[in-house]
Formats: sequence, C-alpha cells, structure tokens
Amino acid sequence: MKNTDKARLAPHKTLTDYYDSDKDRREVVDNMFDSSAKHYDWINRMMSFGSGRWYRKQALQRAGVIENMNVLDVGAGTGVVSHLAQGIVGEQGLVVALDPSKGMLGEAKKLGVTHTTQALGEYLPFQDEIFDIVTMGYALRHVEDLHLLFSEFKRVLKPGGRILLLEITRPESAIATKILKVYMKGIVPTVTRVFRRSADAQKLMQYYWDTIEACVPPATIMDAMTDVGLTETKRHVAQGIFSEYRGIKVGTAS
Ligand SMILES: C[S@@+](CC[C@H](N)C(=O)[O-])C[C@H]1O[C@@H](n2cnc3c(N)ncnc32)[C@H](O)[C@@H]1O
Repeated sequence: MKNTDKARLAPHKTLTDYYDSDKDRREVVDNMFDSSAKHYDWINRMMSFGSGRWYRKQALQRAGVIENMNVLDVGAGTGVVSHLAQGIVGEQGLVVALDPSKGMLGEAKKLGVTHTTQALGEYLPFQDEIFDIVTMGYALRHVEDLHLLFSEFKRVLKPGGRILLLEITRPESAIATKILKVYMKGIVPTVTRVFRRSADAQKLMQYYWDTIEACVPPATIMDAMTDVGLTETKRHVAQGIFSEYRGIKVGTAS
C-alpha cells in the first residue's frame, strides 16, 4: 500500500447532521449502506431517471471496456456496474467488485458478481499495475481524500490504463438545484420510507442528496486527477447532472 504526498482533499465538508466529526464519518456511512443494502436496488430503479443499467453500460463502453480486460469496480455496492462489466469482459476477463460495506457486497453476490473484496478505495489491497480500468459509480462522495483515492487508482492501473468515474453533480442553475433537491431530499426519501418501511433507507437517501449538494465542483475533481499524474482528463455531462469523468495513466498498454 502506498500513500500520497498531496494535501488531503475531502470531497465534501463535515456533514454534522449525520456525524459530529470526520473521524466518525466512516462508521456512520458504512452502517447506513449496510442497513439499507437490501433496499438500494429498488431505490435506484425508482429514482433512476437515466442512471440505471442502460446508462452505466453505455458509460463502460464509452470508456473503452472490452473483452478480456481486468476491471476493478470501486464502491461497487450491489454490483450493478461490476455485473455489466463482467458481461462485457467475458470469461477471459476479470472483474473485482470492491466495497467497504459487507451488506452491499452480499447483494452483489446475489446478482452474480463473482469476485468481491471488502476494502476502501483509498487503500486498495492489490499489487501495482494489474488492472486495465478502474471504475467507480456514485461512490466518490464517500471517500476521505480524493488525492489518496486517485493515487491508489493510478498505482493499480497498468500503463495506459483508464479511470471511469460516474457521479451525480449539482446543477449549475440555482433553480434546477432547488427542483432536484425537492425530488432527491424530499420525494425520494419519503417514497422510500413508505414503500420499504425503512427509516435507515430514508436517511441514506437524505444523506445521498446532502453529499451531492456539498460536493466539491467538477473542476476540483479533475484537478485532483491531474495532481496525481493522470492525463487526458475529461468530463462528459448528460442531462445536466450525470457526470462521467475519465483519465488515463501515462504509458503504453502491453
Ligand atoms: C451509492 S452506492 C453506489 C453503488 C454502485 N456503484 C452503483 O453504481 O449503483 C455507493 C457505494 O460506495 C461505497 N463506499 C463508501 N465509501 C467508500 C470508500 N471509501 N471506498 C469505496 N467505496 C465506498 C458504499 O459502501 C456504497 O456501496
């Protein structure tokens, strides 16, 4: 495991409605995902407005995932991205689904994801230069340090390897942000509570919005990627809120 000499860059400020200090954040977040794991796919389908399986598959293909590749899916959750990647790389390829939440990984196994690892994206338990692509779907907001995360991604990538990050980004206009907030912090958690009868899942969805609202802007995310030496960083935006970040580790793929 290697570290980074870059200054710590948290994806958002401390959200004191949920934890008193940053040192409590990890346990609180893991518990939220663990206790809501069995509801996550239902919620995702209900609120998806385009961020479902179809969008994730297109994003994997746009990022250049093809047969026989080795893919690391960080923040894999219930395994949607991993499962889709498994379908693309085929039996000669490898997909590892990594997540700190045992509950979420349990759901990924039920979906048919073969290789799972319980760990944090900032501390990857893998050797250097073994993956062709590292993916991360909607998990960036939950790490402690973007520099540490991206330097770990770079370390485990083969030369020429790529990164694909999917995120929901706060809209640029204040009105669009208000409308989205009503939907994501009001309607989605309430519908979740009513239909799933889970106060934990309701709280997770409120937290989900609060992390989106508090997240550092896209330019800061792109800068953090370049700070650790990733190149050709790009952001592709769909429907004003779906961000797809890409970057490449310099070198020639073998
Ligand atoms: C919103 S879910 C995303 C699941 C899936 N990737 C998707 O596309 O739907 C976010 C996941 O990030 C995981 N997570 C939280 N902190 C993490 C960290 N530091 N490193 C990696 N994953 C993390 C959570 O446990 C959760 O399963």
